[in-house]
Amino acid sequence: MQEREGFGSRFGTLVVIAGSAVGLGNIWRFPYMVGTNGGAAFILIYLFFVLLICLPMLVSKLVIGRRSRKAAFGSLSALAPGNPVMKYAGYLYLTIPTIVLSYYCVIGGMTVEYFVRSLGVSTTSTTLTTFLWMLVFLALTGLIVIGGVKNGIERFSKVMMPVLFLIVILIAIRSMTLPDRVGAASSASDGLAFLFKPDFSKVTAHTVLAALGQAFFSLSIGAGVLITYGSYIRQQDNIVKTSAQIAFFDLLFAIIAGCAVIPAVFALKDNPALVLSDNTDSALVFTILPEVFPQMPLGVVIGAFFFFALILAALTSSMSQYEVPVSYLVEEHGISRKKSGLIVFCIALVIGTACVFRGQVLGFLDGLCANWLMPLGGVIAVYFVGWMMKKADLVDELSSQGLYKLDPRFVTVLRFLIRYVAPVGVLTVFLTQLFS
Ligand code: PHE
Repeated sequence: MQEREGFGSRFGTLVVIAGSAVGLGNIWRFPYMVGTNGGAAFILIYLFFVLLICLPMLVSKLVIGRRSRKAAFGSLSALAPGNPVMKYAGYLYLTIPTIVLSYYCVIGGMTVEYFVRSLGVSTTSTTLTTFLWMLVFLALTGLIVIGGVKNGIERFSKVMMPVLFLIVILIAIRSMTLPDRVGAASSASDGLAFLFKPDFSKVTAHTVLAALGQAFFSLSIGAGVLITYGSYIRQQDNIVKTSAQIAFFDLLFAIIAGCAVIPAVFALKDNPALVLSDNTDSALVFTILPEVFPQMPLGVVIGAFFFFALILAALTSSMSQYEVPVSYLVEEHGISRKKSGLIVFCIALVIGTACVFRGQVLGFLDGLCANWLMPLGGVIAVYFVGWMMKKADLVDELSSQGLYKLDPRFVTVLRFLIRYVAPVGVLTVFLTQLFS
């Protein structure tokens, strides 16, 4: 086996995996998903999925990666040689991140565009400019993945992620305290009620599916990324603890982003319910936050920093998507990293272009990947860890070969979640959606 590069430290591991998880999913996707799916009830269901389904899957994915020491494509077939399902799972883990990358770059491009705007350059958005900004973002991601300036961006992210976190908190505080407008029908506090007072009468089968999809998308689960990154984790690092920390930060980021966007919609818009339920308005964060910045001291600077930090957060996620097909071409076909990067660039460009010029394509691909393919990818992983992997091997990985003491009750509960709760949970949501 060839000598593989890996993560250098526990903190590095945490930052890179958290970098993949925290991104546009938290700041762009979460607020508008909450908005279009009725608010607090959606958040509660989402929370439930993160804890009971996604967290056990996150652990399973990292276990598979580290155990096989292989990138997503070959990992399961290396651990279960000859098993046809595990072989085809490799193709699934290759397809998903490539598709996600293609439309993620469209939104990433919008982030760059709004950053440029926040610097005072006036631009008008047309389909062509959206295309060009997508191209810029995709090229940036490609250059980082090929050129290995990864080190640089990681070092940068270590600083910028906390900055982004602080800025989002500041914006959330400002949004939640926006003054009532004279004669307005709603205020910021209605936005908070929308976020935190659940109304279960609005929950439909689709709400549940959307919450499931959001949980998978936001944690990057089921896309092959976590297996690939898991294969770089050092033997002595604690997978359980790392997983719990990542899920916690990801959740916190999303909730705070929700607090930054939703109360502002209620305080600043005449018909917030309509703005939120309008499914086509996936640009919510881009349209509403620039209205909040002027209401903050140093708003112009904060706005520019926000979009800049968001670009970095998006890049650490798009890099992780790009890495999966590239590592496949390099590891399985012996193609050079540069050529592999170019091939992936061309494929993503074609799909991304379709997303730009045909509005519905982006929404369709996003729904397909987040709601269906990623949960499916997760189920295959827990099926392997729960039913095919020996319990002793699982314990060996979880305890880092006996380095950490594990409470046997913890192992029993975790294994129960992996074997039964996670797969049955996902399949139930699928079936309910299909038959509703
Ligand atoms: N989790 C990332 C985000 O929240 C998106 C992502 C999806 C990253 C799939 C990798 C794989 O933005």
